[in-house]
Amino acid sequence: MADVQNGDFCSRNPLELFEQVTTQGEKVRSLKAEKAPKDEIEAAVKLLLSLKLSYKTATGQEYKAGSPPTDFTPVSNGPGDAEDEDFVDPWSVQTSNAKGVDYDKLIVRFGSSKIDKDLINRIERVTGHKPHHFLRRGIFFSHRDMNQILDAYENKKPFYLYTGRGPSSEAMHVGHLIPIMFTKWLQEMFNVPLVIQLTDDEKYLWKDLTVEKAYQYAIENIKDLIACGFDINKTFIFSDLDYLGTSPEFYKNILKVQKHVTFNQVKGIFGFTDSDCIGKISFPAIQAAPSFCTSFPQIFNNRKDVQCLIPCAIDQDPYFRMTRDVAPRIGYPKPALMHSVFFPALQGAQTKMSASDPNSSIFLTDTPKQIKTKINKHAFSGGKDTVEEHRKYGGNCDVDVSYMYLTFFLEDDDKLEQIKQAYTSGALLTGELKKALIETLQPLIAAHQQRRKQVTSEMVKEFMTPRKLAFDY
Ligand code: TYM
Repeated sequence: MADVQNGDFCSRNPLELFEQVTTQGEKVRSLKAEKAPKDEIEAAVKLLLSLKLSYKTATGQEYKAGSPPTDFTPVSNGPGDAEDEDFVDPWSVQTSNAKGVDYDKLIVRFGSSKIDKDLINRIERVTGHKPHHFLRRGIFFSHRDMNQILDAYENKKPFYLYTGRGPSSEAMHVGHLIPIMFTKWLQEMFNVPLVIQLTDDEKYLWKDLTVEKAYQYAIENIKDLIACGFDINKTFIFSDLDYLGTSPEFYKNILKVQKHVTFNQVKGIFGFTDSDCIGKISFPAIQAAPSFCTSFPQIFNNRKDVQCLIPCAIDQDPYFRMTRDVAPRIGYPKPALMHSVFFPALQGAQTKMSASDPNSSIFLTDTPKQIKTKINKHAFSGGKDTVEEHRKYGGNCDVDVSYMYLTFFLEDDDKLEQIKQAYTSGALLTGELKKALIETLQPLIAAHQQRRKQVTSEMVKEFMTPRKLAFDY
């Protein structure tokens, strides 16, 4: 019960709170049975009462032993003003605010922690490197237990990285690069193993795809991942359709998670309904299992205690809140997380870039001409209606999609600041800002395409072969 000891019970996750109350209740009972000192029992009872109160505040329900929270609203629709509520879950992101999702509110609602200056400084101290611009610019903005990972690293204890991709289409979009680029940086900074899960099974269940097509998309996406430059000696990439059939240890972990999560709980977390197929209902266990090192005995030599760090955009957090809730109950460390914001759709930050809407996205397969046309035609502008007005009042970087994209991909801080100043003052026009973005993205995507051409089927096969990596355990 690390969370209770840490005083983490103000977290609004009803499921975690439920578990905390249950465990604390058991503790009180055993203290009484052991006839422990009175003050110890009183302290434990006091904590139990305050946990029950937090549970009631979070769910609106009294705690009932043996009945996990049934119909608590999915975290994406937590307490707050319905009007200004943002909706975030693994399948969709919606906000009415042109500036995008209110991420500070999301941190409170999801019960995670902000990546603040102190943490960024600590990462810099520990790694001895300038923090990635995704950290400096708040693009990776939230975390769970990152300090534990840094403690482990400083104490020479191992950890590993886990991230993933749901292959819903042959081509990935630039938004998908965000967690991938950051994961690569983390791997280089900390020199740790990385596992990447391709949830072709998930996409078969959720999309109108055959199993064969979903697998084919997984292989195509793996080529893109390899083209990002991961080290073959330190990285294992797997498709669920492949790996699940070959790894009893992976399947055992999936089963353990399945046994410890009820239908009511996944309904609460993911919004499943009675008419969802049972494949969807049990799928979260498959995304949870790679968070446990025993799913990869070939890498971790059957060790049970290697903690995992998961970089992803915050839409994937529901899977890992569930995983963190289950982990201690099945004898594993909770995975730590680092969450990124969403790369917005071309049409505006009210939603994320999504592969299912081609006009909202710039794909890694787009030609220089397509990139130019999409940006010029669709990128939402924070500029004024006429040149005269724009020169007089300036543009609004807070809602301008081209500027937002530059914050992700233009690494030079000074150049970015100059663009911001010039656009805000009206010196730089929308067309010029779009040109700066086009000139940043075209070479970046062309270079990716060049590297992807060099990826052979042998390389794909090798990355996907369960094997020992360049680490001893
Ligand atoms: P998927 O394929 O939807 O997304 C892959 C990764 O990209 C992130 N992402 C984005 N990041 C920034 N801006 C966007 N517009 C954007 N869209 C997607 C996602 O958060 C994710 O990190 N079920 C998962 C696959 C998965 C996974 C994992 C992801 C399996 N295990 C572990 C992260 C970590 C999925 O369909 O991701």
